[in-house]
Amino acid sequence: MSNNNQKWWSEEYGFFGDFYMEGDNSKEGYRVAEKQNLKQRTLTEVDGVLHLLDLRPKSKILDCPTGYGRHSIELAKRGFVVTGSDLNSKHLAVAKKEAEKNSAKIKFVKENMLDLNYDSEFDAVINMFYSFGFFESDEDNSKVLQNFFKALKPNGQFLMHTDVNIPFIQAGKYKHDETRALTNGNALRIVDKYDPVTKRINGFWILKDENGEEIKKEYSVRVYTKEEFIDLCKRAGFRFCKAYSDWDKKPYSEDSEDMIIVAMK
Ligand SMILES: C[S@@+](CC[C@H](N)C(=O)[O-])C[C@H]1O[C@@H](n2cnc3c(N)ncnc32)[C@H](O)[C@@H]1O
Repeated sequence: MSNNNQKWWSEEYGFFGDFYMEGDNSKEGYRVAEKQNLKQRTLTEVDGVLHLLDLRPKSKILDCPTGYGRHSIELAKRGFVVTGSDLNSKHLAVAKKEAEKNSAKIKFVKENMLDLNYDSEFDAVINMFYSFGFFESDEDNSKVLQNFFKALKPNGQFLMHTDVNIPFIQAGKYKHDETRALTNGNALRIVDKYDPVTKRINGFWILKDENGEEIKKEYSVRVYTKEEFIDLCKRAGFRFCKAYSDWDKKPYSEDSEDMIIVAMK
């Protein structure tokens, strides 16, 4: 793939947008451990972010990528000053509408996380739910971390959360082919495989359209181990990098499904 609008994550390709929003809204959650629907999961995650970060009221938070704004809106409802950044216009349009409905004042910005240009503006940057490693090169993926670092004020905090943890995958505990019931009655099939050579998860989602035809969209994400990710954070300038396995501050373990990293500028 040669230019950005052919990349799996681009708006033009169509993995993100209506396809993703439909597939993300499953009756049961994405994690093996807990069966939470999307709304419950969002509340758990926002409670978790606030439990792990030490934030004063009205702190400024950059949520990148914000997706359709689920964390941004909940954080704004709790009094934080939020900027929601994402590349996808459809996600951002839904986010804006939902924010208005909730009287949540949020600045939504359409931009590529590779090109962020914030300088010492935020008390916290959050990167939620398996949203790191989208780019083909380690160089580009670390550029995103450098952008997050630059966006933070001195002593600002960064939190990355993913439900993908390599030792958990290698122990055979990760689901590689599953079908989830969606709230709209459709079903989502997810198939993926970890490639230890490229260190990427390559997969696809299949949804049926209104005529019953299958639509398949692929993705490919570089998955970093805890050690690799902390190393990238340190190279970007972060200090005090800590790894957790859940929102209750349980230290990272190879058995954990989630991996949460908190670091400071
Ligand atoms: C897995 S979703 C997670 C979104 C949100 N954090 C959540 O938990 O709902 C990943 C998001 O990344 C966005 N995205 C993909 N590539 C991007 C890029 N290059 N720059 C900015 N956002 C991007 C997608 O549009 C999508 O909204």
